[in-house]
Amino acid sequence: MATIAVQLQTLRNIVGRSPLSLHLSRRGLVLGASATALAACAGGGDKFINLYTARHYDADRALYAGFQEATGIEVRALTGSAEQLLERLKAEGSETEADVFISADAGNLWKVKDAALFQNVTTPTLQEKVPSHLRDADGAYWGFTKRARIIVYRRDAVRPEEVATMDALGTPRFRGQIVMRSSSNVYQLSTLASRIERLGADNARAWAAAVHSNFAHDPQGSDTDQIKAVAAGEAQASLVNHYYYFRMLRSEDPADRAAIEKVGFVFPDQAGSGAHINISGGGITAHAKRRDLGVQFLEYLVSDAAQTMLAPLNTEFPIRPEIAPAPDLAAAGAFKEENIPLDALGRHQADASRLFEEVGWT
Ligand code: FE2
Repeated sequence: MATIAVQLQTLRNIVGRSPLSLHLSRRGLVLGASATALAACAGGGDKFINLYTARHYDADRALYAGFQEATGIEVRALTGSAEQLLERLKAEGSETEADVFISADAGNLWKVKDAALFQNVTTPTLQEKVPSHLRDADGAYWGFTKRARIIVYRRDAVRPEEVATMDALGTPRFRGQIVMRSSSNVYQLSTLASRIERLGADNARAWAAAVHSNFAHDPQGSDTDQIKAVAAGEAQASLVNHYYYFRMLRSEDPADRAAIEKVGFVFPDQAGSGAHINISGGGITAHAKRRDLGVQFLEYLVSDAAQTMLAPLNTEFPIRPEIAPAPDLAAAGAFKEENIPLDALGRHQADASRLFEEVGWT
């Protein structure tokens, strides 16, 4: 039986104790014991929430500490991939100790909603703070950071106006000059799903086919690997989430710095529908034992305190337009965002996967 390893992190980690490692059965045979461990392992106060999070950024630990300082509520976080944590939620059912589930990409959050493992929550604070296109219409999940899909290009080979639109990536100008991440990645699925929502499946299939016909080689690697491939001259352009570009820009590794100097980027479709936007977000689990404390955490994530704390630590954009992003992100300037119902990224996910398969984009 396959097992997955999930790291249990609590605020103990922040003060330097080792994370516990839990080995979980995919079929849930040891989940009862694991859930007990989650509830029992953290020290400190008697007010706490259990968080399942697919985010694994250091900045998030500062958020947990800030929340505890503001409310006295401890965040006991279990990290894993979105898929692992969803499987765990399914296996645990009503016995789960998880109160809040957090993940990057609305496509991942939609899967939790689709499995009826979120409960809908709406509060005046959440409604006021989170723009309507960056949250689920029913209140199943709420964004707290924002990311854009950008086109990166090799500066010595491409003029930015040549890659001003997503359509440009499928034109003969870029024959043999495009590299892309695999279509199984949720960022790609959400990108194509947004096009299905705006322009229909036939248009989305034609775009995917045109871009695929320009590939320099079969899809491989991460978003960062696409940037490195463009920098190395393997291709002239690719599509990545913006924070991977900015992470390399901030890197202290001289190789990253040298690579990123060769690469420029654009927010696509600024004269049209705007750049594809996605979120990191969270919701209250269907069987939360500490629902009200969990709601306090969701509200904290979009508060002035959390948003201003996160902005300089993070390479994503704040969810709230009135909060300034980190200076290097601000320097990139304001940009036009795609504006579609967020759940479209989930609703069209299966179709996006099928269309990619039909055109041979593996
Ligand atoms: Fe990412």
